[in-house]
Amino acid sequence: MTDTVSSPAPTVAVEGVHKRYETTDGAGTTALADVSFTIDPGEFVTVVGPSGCGKTTLARLVGGFESPTSGRVLVDETPVTSPAPDRAMVFQAYHLFPWLSVQENVAFGLVEQGVAEDVRNERVEAMLELVGLSDRASAYPAELSGGMKQRVGLARALAVDPGLLLMDEPFGSVDSQTRRRLQRELLDIWRTVEKTVVFVTHDIQEAVLMSDRVLVLTGTPGRVRDDVTVELPRPRDRTDDAFIGYVDTLFDLVETTI
Ligand SMILES: Nc1ncnc2c1ncn2[C@@H]1O[C@H](COP(=O)(O)OP(=O)(O)OP(=O)(O)O)[C@@H](O)[C@H]1O
Ligand SMILES: [Mg+2]
Repeated sequence: MTDTVSSPAPTVAVEGVHKRYETTDGAGTTALADVSFTIDPGEFVTVVGPSGCGKTTLARLVGGFESPTSGRVLVDETPVTSPAPDRAMVFQAYHLFPWLSVQENVAFGLVEQGVAEDVRNERVEAMLELVGLSDRASAYPAELSGGMKQRVGLARALAVDPGLLLMDEPFGSVDSQTRRRLQRELLDIWRTVEKTVVFVTHDIQEAVLMSDRVLVLTGTPGRVRDDVTVELPRPRDRTDDAFIGYVDTLFDLVETTI
């Protein structure tokens, strides 16, 4: 039994990655073409781009849920070949275990890691409080709204305190007030316990608020069109002229990438 569950923040290197999916009509889709970038330990990098440009594919490749058709993904210089507990993913479409309660879903990774029950319970309680679901601990996923399911997915990923956090539109289906609270909480967690974050969003303002860097992908197949460093002090103010300037620049880049 262990009681510590924290992993150090790693580097990520994506090297010349192509990803092609075979499709039922036989035509196939190239989701990503020649994508390369690196992320330093503890960096918060957001990926934006038009729908279908390969953002989810990219996050899944880094998580080891998919393999590149060619090229490679390295985490701390080791090629990624499968999912691992030090890389947690918050999925766009929740992916909760329907037969487990909210509490059991959040505890899942901790059980896998053999974390002692008292530590586990404490951690699960803290994570449920963080996402505002303490009163739904014994509910099952089918009994929750989309936003609640999304928050359970977030709590489950944060519970194992991974060094690398992969987040695919983690706030996509939560209401705007909860979204702002979770954005703040995530930034607090990221600042307190160093984590490398790959964050996917459609929301340009969210990208500027959260990130050290924003990768802009082109439309299908996805390629890196731009890599914008957000040089604004934190906490950031959405009404600040420089903040609005970044939002405008990124909007233009995304609009012209289709
Ligand atoms: N399992 C799959 N089989 C076949 N094609 C796929 C599969 N997964 C994704 N694709 C295709 O790969 C491309 C990229 O998909 P992906 O889900 O990565 O895009 P995305 O940028 O996350 O889109 P969105 O913003 O809508 O979430 C799309 O053309 C999609 O149809
Ligand atoms: Mg997606």
